[in-house]
Amino acid sequence: MRAVTWQGTEHVSVETVPDPILQQPTDAIVRITSTAICGSDLHLYSVLGPFMTPGDIIGHEPMGIVEEVGSEVTGVRPGDRVVVPFTISCGHCAMCGQGLPSQCETTQVTERGTGAALLGYSKLYGQVPGGQAEHLRVPHADYGLMKVGTELPDDNYLFLSDILPTAWQAVQYAGVPAHRTLAVIGLGPVGQLSARIGRHLGARVFGIDPVPERRAMAERHGIEVLDLNEDAVGEIRERTQGRGPDAVVDAVGMEAEGSPVAGLAQTLAGKLPDAVAQPLMERAGVDRLAALHTAIDLVRRGGTVSLSGVYGGAASPMPLLTMFDKQLQLRMGQCNVRVWTDALLPLVEDPEDPLGVGDLVTHRLPLEEAAVGYDLFQRKHDGCIKVVLDPTIASAPTTP
Ligand SMILES: NC(=O)c1ccc[n+]([C@@H]2O[C@H](COP(=O)([O-])OP(=O)(O)OC[C@H]3O[C@@H](n4cnc5c(N)ncnc54)[C@H](O)[C@@H]3O)[C@@H](O)[C@H]2O)c1
Ligand SMILES: [Zn+2]
Ligand SMILES: [Zn+2]
Repeated sequence: MRAVTWQGTEHVSVETVPDPILQQPTDAIVRITSTAICGSDLHLYSVLGPFMTPGDIIGHEPMGIVEEVGSEVTGVRPGDRVVVPFTISCGHCAMCGQGLPSQCETTQVTERGTGAALLGYSKLYGQVPGGQAEHLRVPHADYGLMKVGTELPDDNYLFLSDILPTAWQAVQYAGVPAHRTLAVIGLGPVGQLSARIGRHLGARVFGIDPVPERRAMAERHGIEVLDLNEDAVGEIRERTQGRGPDAVVDAVGMEAEGSPVAGLAQTLAGKLPDAVAQPLMERAGVDRLAALHTAIDLVRRGGTVSLSGVYGGAASPMPLLTMFDKQLQLRMGQCNVRVWTDALLPLVEDPEDPLGVGDLVTHRLPLEEAAVGYDLFQRKHDGCIKVVLDPTIASAPTTP
């Protein structure tokens, strides 16, 4: 089959690789019909290179049609249309039972001390082959596959694999709707959906992003947008009786603009041999923290900061004086996808499209054009906000 493979820092290529096969009686094989590129893939593409191996199949936002199931799979049959959550979870361990499948004790990557294995991620999360491919092996298929209807287009369902439940979790952790004002830092796909979910749940929502097209998209959904260059913090404070919003979602993560020193350290670490860079990053790595620091500064006293942006720095400095003095609450983590998908399913099937899932994808490209898609998404060229790769089309790129 054809699959998107990581080959080196900022270098992916589509290669012919062996078809996946059932390895466990609880596995299923899915033929992929749509597979998106996520902001987390951009971290693998660039700063997390030391944890990648050339040839790794990446991608963790897929959906498609079940082709084959193992002997113990009872919940899905060949021919079913399914969405594949990016976290690999068993559904029945102590953590899954407490609504924390992203900490699944059956799939935790114990040799790295990390939580549940993830599809198409780095060695940090099990190095499991991912879903930017024609076919995908899905472990723990009974819990790991979500059956969906056959009528609506893929884009209605696709984001249930990751960014929609991620955004939903971010807003739940932010305490909306009890919290009435929300700021979302970063208006990439996760920020777009977080902001819209905030509105849907009745909050007044501010959004900050340096990219004009991303601000314009958010504005179409009732978000009060601000450029990063303005005094965004002062402006939002002014519009919230001088206090700041009740909650702030950081939807940027470890590669924020405006952190030049940490940016240089990340770049240098990426140029070291993996055997040196890996332990260095695991012990002394720092993130680009500009967005997180903005969130801590911006939120009102006693408010909540909710991180959906991924951080990985082992030694990232935090402004504890401010955090303690302002009496902040901080929530974060990898998304517990299946915990939220039942609430989200009716919203993505609603013809009124309350979360605007029909207004997110800017580029649908053949799988073969993956390298173009990564480049456009990372550089934010050509108005790129969300890229979906389609293994079923072989022609030149098209934009919807
Ligand atoms: N927690 C989870 O389970 C989970 C799931 C999916 C994605 N993520 C993470 O969410 C984050 C966002 O993902 P995405 O797909 O939206 O990616 P993205 O890279 O498209 O979005 C990031 C946005 O932040 C903006 N930005 C950069 N620096 C900024 C700053 N200092 N202030 C304000 N805005 C700034 C960028 O212009 C961009 O629009 C990533 O870190 C990704 O890894 C987490
Ligand atoms: Zn993702
Ligand atoms: Zn589990």
